[in-house]
Amino acid sequence: MSARKIEQNRKQRELISERVNRLSPSGIRKFFDLLATMEDYISLGVGEPDYATPWHISEAAVQSLEKGYTMYTSNSGMPELREETALYLQEKYDIEYESCGEILITVGVSEALDLAMRAILSPGDEVIMPDPHYVAYDSCVILAGGEPVMVPTSQENNFEVEAKDIEERITDNTKAILLGYPANPTGAVMSRDKMLAVAEVARRHNLIVVSDEIYARLVYSVEHTCFASLPGVKDNTILLGGFSKAYAMTGWRIGYAVAPEEIIAAMTKIHQYTIMSAPTMAQVAAIAALKSGENDVLEMVEDYNRRRLIIVKGLNDIGMSCFEPRGAFYAFPSIAATGMKSVEFSDKLLKEEKVAVVPGAAFGDCGEGYVRCCYATSLADIEEALTRMGRFVKKYRKVYPV
Ligand SMILES: Cc1ncc(COP(=O)(O)O)c(C=O)c1O
Repeated sequence: MSARKIEQNRKQRELISERVNRLSPSGIRKFFDLLATMEDYISLGVGEPDYATPWHISEAAVQSLEKGYTMYTSNSGMPELREETALYLQEKYDIEYESCGEILITVGVSEALDLAMRAILSPGDEVIMPDPHYVAYDSCVILAGGEPVMVPTSQENNFEVEAKDIEERITDNTKAILLGYPANPTGAVMSRDKMLAVAEVARRHNLIVVSDEIYARLVYSVEHTCFASLPGVKDNTILLGGFSKAYAMTGWRIGYAVAPEEIIAAMTKIHQYTIMSAPTMAQVAAIAALKSGENDVLEMVEDYNRRRLIIVKGLNDIGMSCFEPRGAFYAFPSIAATGMKSVEFSDKLLKEEKVAVVPGAAFGDCGEGYVRCCYATSLADIEEALTRMGRFVKKYRKVYPV
């Protein structure tokens, strides 16, 4: 390392907190920085719907502005939004939460996740989570002073985490298990039986389960099991949900956390000092989504499913072995055929064929050897991307004939 680099690192250590210095730069960020310098590429990169928010949802927010609803709301969120959220969870999963005390409206699941970790973790507490996992999971744990502990998952077990693998990693410092199913980046859905086994381990060791169910509505030919609805776990579960994915509302920044009252009170304490309240007009839009957005969700899910079937078959046909994702809007094909690492594969694919995918290594060690392809994009783009990726794999194939 050059003397200049050593001096830069020393300054960085002095200036920036130890916790922030521990965070690795997001593999996704680096990749998107590269994308920003390119034009005319097909993106299977960004993990968000290609739909605009259904107009009647946006319109509700526009009307609220016209009426002058531009003030803060209650720290916990608008009472009507909390009531609608409680009703929704009751109707969908048959679980009862008090709209006053057990629900907090947040700035996306992103904030809810951060608050959950900061509310429950003391320095050195460990949080067990699957690898690969959503990029913010380990970072939020580290920022809250905790230690992330990885449980490897693999294509062979459909990227579902096994209770026995979790149990093997429990120590005196273990405080929580963090689950995120349907999963980003793999598209895996966890079966009810596997969830029941995790619930049993969590109960026996008195652990909190933080369950990020932001993709709960995006499931294909399978049922989503809400972790909190399993017998005997509600008191130990923090359920996170949101509007970004199912209602195509990523830019509105609305999510929620539901949990026992003492946990929500602790999360609200942090929220009130750091955020105050989620954006008012966005909360109004979220109420409209819950009251009248069901058909939009169903239509979008049907459309994602069509694209899912095409991309998974297409990837397998070109020699990128891909297990069948049953949730979210990601395919997670293997790049073993090329013998490349995922960062090299993604860089070369972007430069040579102008197709953006995200290197699997960005999601943890077990993501190496894979890339994430988001299929929330037009069928025409998916088909063209498959043609270009097929050409690319053929050029570099090492192991399998295509
Ligand atoms: C698994 C997962 N959790 C949380 C989030 C953040 O969602 P939000 O837009 O609600 O902050 C994302 C966004 O991609 C995600 O994939």
